[in-house]
Amino acid sequence: MRVEEPYSYKTVSSKLVQVAEIASRYKGRPEMLMKVIIQVQKIVPSFSASVAAVIAREMEIPQTEVYSFITFYAMLSVKPRGKYIIRMCKSAPCHVKGAREIVQEVEQLLGIHMGETTEDNRFTLEYCPCLGICEISPAIMINEKTYGNLTRESVRSIIKMYIREDVE
Ligand code: FES
Repeated sequence: MRVEEPYSYKTVSSKLVQVAEIASRYKGRPEMLMKVIIQVQKIVPSFSASVAAVIAREMEIPQTEVYSFITFYAMLSVKPRGKYIIRMCKSAPCHVKGAREIVQEVEQLLGIHMGETTEDNRFTLEYCPCLGICEISPAIMINEKTYGNLTRESVRSIIKMYIREDVE
């Protein structure tokens, strides 16, 4: 897959250095791509072909893999999103371990469906690719924090912590 025009803009080299610095921490660990992309998004407003190339080079993974992640992520990022982004892993190991039930619990608690944001703009619920913590599936990520081995009860109390703003 090629990155087409919408992603094209000039990224200043100092920003590319920062992107490289982040991506190089996860050399040879393609499962950490989601984490890298979330961190990189704070530095660059959108993903250019050069940003994707730097990520691919530093992580030593195929550029096509980076592109498909970015495409997936860009698709999600165009909608208005909440203060807390709850990302539910959509990959097979989490699915097998009951991700669907976890999603249902979160949907019920927040009164929204997958892909939606609460009316007060505090929570967005969305799917994401593997979070790289399959050994503790089913797993979610809320902003940059990951939670695993989830049950209906545990995810409920985690979300309630966020509702109370009882988080760092
Ligand atoms: S499959 Fe869910 S974290 Fe990897």
